[in-house]
Amino acid sequence: MVATAEPLADATARAWHLLAAAGSPSARLDAEILVAHAVGRDRSWLAAHPEVTLDQAAQAQLDEWLVRRAAGEPIAYLRGWKEWHGHRLHTDARALIPRPETEIVADLAVVDLAHRLSDGTDALTAWDVGTGSGAVALVLARRFHVALALGRLRLVASDLSSDALELAAENFSADGFDGLVTLVVADLLEPAGRWLPRPDVVVANLPYVPSAQLDGAGSLGFEPSRALDGGPDGLDLIRCLVSTLPETMAAGASAWLEVGLGQAAEVAALAESLGMTVGVHRDLAGIDRAVELRAE
Ligand SMILES: C[S@@+](CC[C@H](N)C(=O)[O-])C[C@H]1O[C@@H](n2cnc3c(N)ncnc32)[C@H](O)[C@@H]1O
Repeated sequence: MVATAEPLADATARAWHLLAAAGSPSARLDAEILVAHAVGRDRSWLAAHPEVTLDQAAQAQLDEWLVRRAAGEPIAYLRGWKEWHGHRLHTDARALIPRPETEIVADLAVVDLAHRLSDGTDALTAWDVGTGSGAVALVLARRFHVALALGRLRLVASDLSSDALELAAENFSADGFDGLVTLVVADLLEPAGRWLPRPDVVVANLPYVPSAQLDGAGSLGFEPSRALDGGPDGLDLIRCLVSTLPETMAAGASAWLEVGLGQAAEVAALAESLGMTVGVHRDLAGIDRAVELRAE
C-alpha cells in the first residue's frame, strides 16, 4: 500500500483510518494491536517507539492483516492467539475464540472440583464437553495438574469437531499437559459409561446462538458455525445434553452449563423436570450465565 519505509506512528494512523472507514467499532485499538504485532512487539512498546520504521516484510504482513481485518476477520485469528483466563491460547479458524464470560463457568467448575478433591475423593472424572480450543479444560488442567499426575482425577476434553480437538491438543501440548488430558471426538457425552467413565463434574459451553442471529453475523461468520449455531431458539444442543445427564453422569455429579441471554430459565426447568437440583449464576454483566445441575 505504501512504497517507502513507514514510521510506526504513520502506519498506526493509516491503519486506524482504514479500519474506521471499513466500519470497525474498535479501529484504533485494532490498528495499534496489528502494527505492534507486525513488528513483534506490544502496544506499550509501540507507543514508546513511534519513529521506528516497518521493514518491507512487516509492511507486507500488516497490509495483508488490514485487508482481512477490514473484511471482519477477528484479531485473535489474525495474530493467532487470545489472552484468556490469564494465559495465551492459540486460536485459529478451527475453533471458537474463547469469550470472557466463559471464564466464570470455568471458575465455578474449579471450585466444585476443588471441594470434591479436598473431601479425599479419588478416581474423579471431569469432562469438558465441546472443548473447542481447549480453553476450559486447560483451566482445570492447570489448577489440578497434581491430581491429574497422581491419577486422582481424570480430565476428558471432547468435541464433535476433530479440527477443534487438534487445536486443543496443540494448546495442551504448549502448556506441557501432553498425556494428562483424554481427548475424544464424540457427540456430547456419548462415550460416558461405555468406554469412558461417567463424569463427576461436567462443564460445557455448547453452541447457544439462535440460527437466525448468525445470518450476516459479521465477524461471527469467521468462526465455525458448529461452534455457535444452537438451532432455532439456540437451545438444541443444550437440551440434548441436559436430557442425557441423568443417565450419563455419575451418582452425585454436577454439571456447569454456559447459556445465552434469557436461556437459563428454560434450561433450569428442563433439568428440574428430570429430577435434578438447579442453581443459576450471573456473570459480571448481571446476566444469568451458568446453570448448575446436580444429579441425585
Ligand atoms: C461455543 S463453542 C465452545 C468452545 C470452548 N468450550 C470455549 O468455551 O471456548 C462450542 C463447541 O461445541 C462443539 N460441539 C458442537 N456440537 C457438539 C456435539 N454434538 N458434541 C460435542 N461437541 C459439540 C463445537 O464444535 C464447539 O467446539
